[in-house]
Parts: sequence; C-alpha cells; structure tokens
Amino acid sequence: MDILQMNEISKVYGNGIYANRRVNFSVCEGEIHALVGENGAGKSTLMKVLFGLEKPDSGQIIVKGTPVSFQSPQDAMAIGIGMVHQHFMLVPSLSVTENVTLGFEPMGKAFIDRKTARKKVQELSDTFDLKIDLDMPASKLAVGIKQKVEILKALYRGARILILDEPTAVLTPQETVELFIQLKALKEKGFTVIFISHKLREIKQLTDRVSVMRRGELVASVNTEDVSEEEISSMMIGGGYSGHIVKSPAVPKENLVEIKDVKWKDRNSVPVVNGVTFSVRAGEIVGIAGVEGNGQDELIEMITGLKRYDSGEIQMFGSSIKNEEISSLRERGMSYIPSDRMTLGVATSMSIENNLISTKINDPSIYSGKLLSASKIAQLSAKLVSDFRIKCGSSKTEVSMLSGGNIQKVVVAREFTQNARLIIAEQPTRGIDVGAAEFIHNKLVELRDSGCGVLLVSADLDELTKLSDSIIVLHNGQISAYIENVSAVSEIELGHYMLGVNKQSASDIGRAYHTK
Ligand SMILES: Nc1ncnc2c1ncn2[C@@H]1O[C@H](COP(=O)(O)OP(=O)(O)O)[C@@H](O)[C@H]1O
Ligand SMILES: [Mg+2]
Repeated sequence: MDILQMNEISKVYGNGIYANRRVNFSVCEGEIHALVGENGAGKSTLMKVLFGLEKPDSGQIIVKGTPVSFQSPQDAMAIGIGMVHQHFMLVPSLSVTENVTLGFEPMGKAFIDRKTARKKVQELSDTFDLKIDLDMPASKLAVGIKQKVEILKALYRGARILILDEPTAVLTPQETVELFIQLKALKEKGFTVIFISHKLREIKQLTDRVSVMRRGELVASVNTEDVSEEEISSMMIGGGYSGHIVKSPAVPKENLVEIKDVKWKDRNSVPVVNGVTFSVRAGEIVGIAGVEGNGQDELIEMITGLKRYDSGEIQMFGSSIKNEEISSLRERGMSYIPSDRMTLGVATSMSIENNLISTKINDPSIYSGKLLSASKIAQLSAKLVSDFRIKCGSSKTEVSMLSGGNIQKVVVAREFTQNARLIIAEQPTRGIDVGAAEFIHNKLVELRDSGCGVLLVSADLDELTKLSDSIIVLHNGQISAYIENVSAVSEIELGHYMLGVNKQSASDIGRAYHTK
C-alpha cells in the first residue's frame, strides 16, 4: 500500500529553473525506495517539498490517504516524516542527547528533565542499535557518527518515513556497510526509507524499488531487482554508460614527485604519517587507497604545500618543496582538486565563469592582444560548462546557487584545463552523477596519456582500481602495500591491506619509489 503519494508536483526556483516538473512519486509502506538522478535532477528539491522545507508551485501530497499541506518541517514531522540532510545540522557544542532532544525536551516542573531525556535517547539508540556516546559533544564526533545522531534525531521526533539525502557520500565503505544494516533493521520494524544515492551498486544492494529523475522529471519507478546497474544508469542519463574505462598500459617517464621517508606528528605527538616513500611519474596514475584517517589527508596536505612535514623530504619537478606554498607549486605546474571543495575549492559568491578563469589569468587564450577578452572568457566558460555538464542557468550564475555535485564539477573543470604536469585529485567524483563521473574518468586517462602524472585519492575502490596504474595502500600512516598489477588485485585483498590484516614485505613496498 502507498504510504505516500506526491502528485503532479512542480517547483520553479527564482532563477526560472524547473527543479521539479509535474512529478508523480509514490512510496509503499515498509519499503526502502531509492531516488536517483544526475546532479541537479531535482531529487533534493522533491524531498525538501516532502519535508516542508520548500513549497511546491503546484501539485498535491497525500500521506496515508489524506491530503496534507506543509507550512514547515514541523508539520511534516508531526505526521511522521523525518529527513537526514546532506549537510548535517547539529549544534557542535551540545551533547548527542541535547542535539537529539533539542526543541522536543521532556519537561519536569518548569525545567527540562535531563534524566528522562537521556533515558529516552538511550532506549532509542539501543532499540535501533545506533551505538553512540550520548554525552559526547557533537563537535567531537566522526562523520559517520554524526549521521547516526541525525537518524536518532528524526526517530526521536517520531519519524516513520525517513528521508536520507545522499547519506553514503560522506561515509567510508565500512560505515556504509553499518548504515545499510541499520536501514534494513528499520525496514524490518516497519519503517519506510527514501534513500538518495548515485551509487548504483548500493541501490542494488539495499533498495526494494527505485525511482529515476532526469531534468526535473520523474522518468521511471521500478522494482530494483528487475533492473541492472546499466539499465538504471541509462535511465538516469538517457544513454548508456558501460562503467568501463578504455585505457592502454601506462608509459611512465620521469619522476614528478618524490616523497622520501616523510613523517608528521599531530599535536598529541601521534605519528599520523610515519615514514612514507614513493614517487609519481609522468604518464601514470597512482592511486592511494586507505580507510579514512590513515594519514592520506595529511600526506596530500604536505605534498600540496598546505602542511609542513616534520622530517623526510618531498621534491616536486626536481626541487624541494620544503618552504613552498601551494600557490607557487601551482605556478610550477601542479593542479589540485581538494576533497573539501567548499572551503578550498571555490569562491561561492563569485560566478561560475570567474571561478573557472581564476587560475587562468596567464592563459593567452582569454586575451585579445594585451587585454582580457570578455567574449573569449565567455566562450571558454560556456565550453567548460557544457563539457563538464555543469547544470546551471548560465556561466554567469553564482556558484552558491549550484548543488554540491555541480560545484565539484566547476572545480574539476578548472583544474583539468590548466596544462598542469601533475594533477592531485582527492575524491574527484564524490557526490557526482554517473554521466559526469564517466567524463571525469576518461579525462583523467586522457591527461595521463598526454604525459601528465596523476595522484588519485579515492574512497571508492571501484574508481581506484578502474583508473589507477598502480596503487599505494596506506594503513596507520605507513604504506602497507604497493600494487603494481592493479587488474590482478581483488577488493578483498585491498581491504586486508587497508585494515592492516596483511602487509607486504619492505622490499615490495620499496618498489613504490622509482629510481630513474
Ligand atoms: N535554492 C535554490 N535556488 C535556486 N535554484 C536551486 C535551488 N536549489 C536547487 N536549485 C536548482 O534546482 C535544480 C535541482 O536541484 P536539486 O534538487 O538540488 O538536484 P539534485 O538533488 O538532484 O542534485 C538544479 O538546477 C539546482 O541548481
Ligand atoms: Mg541533492
């Protein structure tokens, strides 16, 4: 039975974009229902309408047979709809319990009854096996735990229908496995889950039905077991994506970066990067695998000049980077796609165009004689917007108006067109739709073939094994394996190196550094 129907929902934003166009979407009670579509397809908007965060311009919502009209999320919560957002909304200084009960605290005689509150939250966390330290301030929680708190928060407020907007985009593979167990347990208890994701394999694993959105419209709702990953992706992008990358063997040349016995300790003297040695050569893609928190972020920060190493040595293009800033490394031919695109990647208050050309100020193709040419800039930006499938009104649109995936595309488009010799890419396709991810993958291989060196960090093992010519696995701040024959390694083997179950011999690991 349908617990929920959204009929003929349309939503137009101020910029004239039809985010939703006559969408008909229905969900059965007790199912896990996937909502998929490219970035900008209108998924988040539809869910915001369902949660009372956005008012539709037309259409009707029916919950358990009764038409409803939401003025705010409070109205949606009152009838049992809860939402876990893409960006968490916890108060950092408050404890888990306080965050969960915020605004819905049980009252004693004029005071908030903290004991009862804690007990209720504890019961919930036990019932749903969401194990969290309830007294910990939210600021101290890992991302995966914050998400659990958000889920608890929704359950505490009485949600029976739970909306999760791209919950796995921020999770490690292990955390994702855990989340799926919890979502399946919720389903067993009769809850209904709406799950937004780009990852087709996850959708196949977890969901009962899948609805596909494309350009604001809902184009199909089908039983998940009736469709293959390929079929889902064709419905999403309206064409076929094989998921395979055509790539010839690498022809590596000289070392572009040499990392020798690099070490770094954090404030508590914990060795986070503990003697790492490898090199990246021109014409190859070197992947870094590792469970989040095993030193990869810090290592990249050191290679890009954002963090100083304590000891060891890093050379880029033949000279030490010991005292160099990221800006001078960029001038010397490094380009960098940071995983934290919001703070490091873009100026959100500027237009797409200005972001795209911000690093191309020395590029002759945007000049007419000695002067910057507005028309050449516009032409170049329009081409990048179309190549990289950036969904926007025009290239003059402010970046803050874009969805997260589209912001990522702006960063990638800018970094891929710099004529760099070395590209450092962290999670380059995280949160991006299959169509754009395919384009980015092919582009990385193309850049490699033109002689660029690529250092790729990705939590997506599929992406890593598809693209990389060799893989370095980091565990506990050290290299636990160097895989030269990537096509022969299984994800299970990689997982063992990632978790420290296995470690290669020192001489095998030593091969990660190439002497010319
Ligand atoms: N607050 C907003 N103002 C203007 N346009 C928006 C806003 N939110 C989303 N959009 C636009 O609406 C379209 C659908 O966005 P969204 O629902 O976020 O897509 P999805 O979640 O599928 O990536 C996109 O073109 C996006 O740029
Ligand atoms: Mg979205």
